[in-house]
Amino acid sequence: MRKPMSLRLRVTLLCAALLTLCCLLLTVTNNFSAIRMADAIQAVPLLPAQRAELEDSVSLPMAELHISDTIQQAQGAFHMQSLLAMVAILALGLFLIYRLVGKALAPLDTLTCRIRERTAADLAQPVEIPDSGDEAAAVALAFNQMSQRLNQVFVMQRNFSRNAAHEFRTPLAVLKTRIGLFRKKQDFRPQATLELLQIVEGEVDRLSAMVSELLELTNLERASRGERLSSGQLIRSAADQAAPQAEARSITILVDAAPCTLAGNAELLRQAVCNLVENAVKYSPAGSVVHIAGHRDGEWFQIVVADQGPGIPESLRQRIFEPFFRVDDSRSRQLGGAGLGLALVRAIAEFHGGAVYVEKSRGAGSRFVLKLPCEQDPPPD
Ligand SMILES: Nc1ncnc2c1ncn2[C@@H]1O[C@H](COP(=O)(O)OP(=O)(O)O)[C@@H](O)[C@H]1O
Ligand SMILES: [Mg+2]
Repeated sequence: MRKPMSLRLRVTLLCAALLTLCCLLLTVTNNFSAIRMADAIQAVPLLPAQRAELEDSVSLPMAELHISDTIQQAQGAFHMQSLLAMVAILALGLFLIYRLVGKALAPLDTLTCRIRERTAADLAQPVEIPDSGDEAAAVALAFNQMSQRLNQVFVMQRNFSRNAAHEFRTPLAVLKTRIGLFRKKQDFRPQATLELLQIVEGEVDRLSAMVSELLELTNLERASRGERLSSGQLIRSAADQAAPQAEARSITILVDAAPCTLAGNAELLRQAVCNLVENAVKYSPAGSVVHIAGHRDGEWFQIVVADQGPGIPESLRQRIFEPFFRVDDSRSRQLGGAGLGLALVRAIAEFHGGAVYVEKSRGAGSRFVLKLPCEQDPPPD
């Protein structure tokens, strides 16, 4: 492939073309007016005194021939000089343009060198912004903003992988220790074997739940979102799924849903609401009430899941939506959570053009709001 021409050379050639055109026009007009002036001079009749003087020295026709020769020679000299001047001006002009364009583009060259020196490790370090305030400064600023964003993504990915590895290590360590102990004790009684199998099954379940949540979180963009579903069905199915857990701890689930048609991926939306209800039941005290309400608010449908649990400290209300974040690490781990549920809810909400947040609740407990865009048509209930 042919190497593209540098910007410096392109600007120089463009200026050279313009300069040549101007010089040519100027030279042609100058020469044209010189010819016209010479013709005019030649046409002027001699004064009587001049005529008398010439008649004394040479014959008149000879004198007139001499004058016309002189004018023609002067014309020829003028053409040659103006051509030489044009070539000299062009050469000087081109040289100056090339130097000046180079000088004007020098900050861009410096910036290119600095950007080339960057590696993924020093993305957080901004490049120096030239104080020229011109296009080079704008490019440097845009580059710094982009590398800041990239750096944030890198940091998030690094933390994500670190947390994921940490979460996987715990159940794997439990499995390794228990199996090692079993082998060492050589206690193959049915009771001991059953106990080991239960532990292994529990940890494997935990690992596979984590893998499915991680896969869902990373493959969300591939899901379809063309289905239409009723808000009532969505909320009721989430309440039904959490019912056995709630019953086991005498928790009452109250449902109050206004009709609305939602568009999106029914399975993902069901999972998002289920995660919120499951959390409400999981973190609430026995005998309390979990309230699930759905109502329309203009273009939006809001699903509110309120509980009477410990609530979320205000400073952590954003962070609980980060993958692997838990308010009380050991308690959540005991309850079997990897800290991915709310991250998935947020990803699903954003995938549908909505949002999820936790509100300050009036009494004790938490109040999660899942906001989804509404369809305008009546619901298919
Ligand atoms: N309804 C709730 N009440 C109190 N704390 C909650 C509630 N829902 C979520 N949390 C806190 O937010 C953390 C993140 O929730 P989630 O992502 O679902 O993870 P987990 O797998 O631990 O349930 C939980 O560990 C818990 O500390
Ligand atoms: Mg959860």
